[in-house]
Amino acid sequence: MSYKSQILSDKVPQHVAIIMDGNGRWAKQQGEVRIFGHTNGVDSVRSVITASGEIGVKYLTLYAFSTENWSRPKEEIDGLMNLLVQSITDELEEMNEKGVRLQTIGNIKNLPDSCQKALKEAIESTKDNKKLTLILALSYSSRWEITNAISKMAKNIEDNKLSSDEINEQLISSYLSTANFPDPELLIRTSGESRISNFLMWQLAYTELLFTDTLWPDFDKECYYKAIVDFQRRERRFGKTTEQLDDNEIN
Ligand code: FPP
Repeated sequence: MSYKSQILSDKVPQHVAIIMDGNGRWAKQQGEVRIFGHTNGVDSVRSVITASGEIGVKYLTLYAFSTENWSRPKEEIDGLMNLLVQSITDELEEMNEKGVRLQTIGNIKNLPDSCQKALKEAIESTKDNKKLTLILALSYSSRWEITNAISKMAKNIEDNKLSSDEINEQLISSYLSTANFPDPELLIRTSGESRISNFLMWQLAYTELLFTDTLWPDFDKECYYKAIVDFQRRERRFGKTTEQLDDNEIN
């Protein structure tokens, strides 16, 4: 039986986040240069976007370029940035057809101008789409985001726009780049690594973590559906007892 047919439509996670890992190793296995892995990784990106739309996931966050990735060889960084511009430009029409709204999180100012321009245009062009919000994490890291949030809060306190008494979890969430999005219910990381790697550390507090050995370019729709089925089989407690969950089901 296909995994898709096992998905319970009333328990589909609203927000899935993915650490797309293993492109370099996949390329090496093929005897190719690293960028070949990233290029093939774009097919998997397309697959998870389409699959998300099909099963009713409303938010999909993809870790496409971390703050730490800036220390990779210039050739690989340039290749990734070109791939990003090309993919966004090529896929814009289809994103609009499929009702995909593009958003970003991260230090976008650090990206090359061509990349910023392509992103700005695609964000504007897709802003009214309602089916799925695709959030690309670019030049993103959690510690950068949290540092930024604290710095903005401190500045607002200095300027008397905020009082320290007002600081609570909701307020902190509202200072993060994910302020307009719900927290993910499911995080998937490919390629056999079991780390969070500075990704959405605040937002993942209650998220189910799913690690798979599949390398990102091999991660197809069935792999994604399998991850959703695995997620649905887990009990989500939020620190409560099974009895409390039975009385007042929260997932
Ligand atoms: C990790 O694999 C992957 C990345 C750093 C980049 C992911 C980018 C893409 C899939 C393409 C562009 C994205 C979009 C949204 C169009 P790795 O290089 O760390 O692999 P390794 O651990 O095997 O070396």
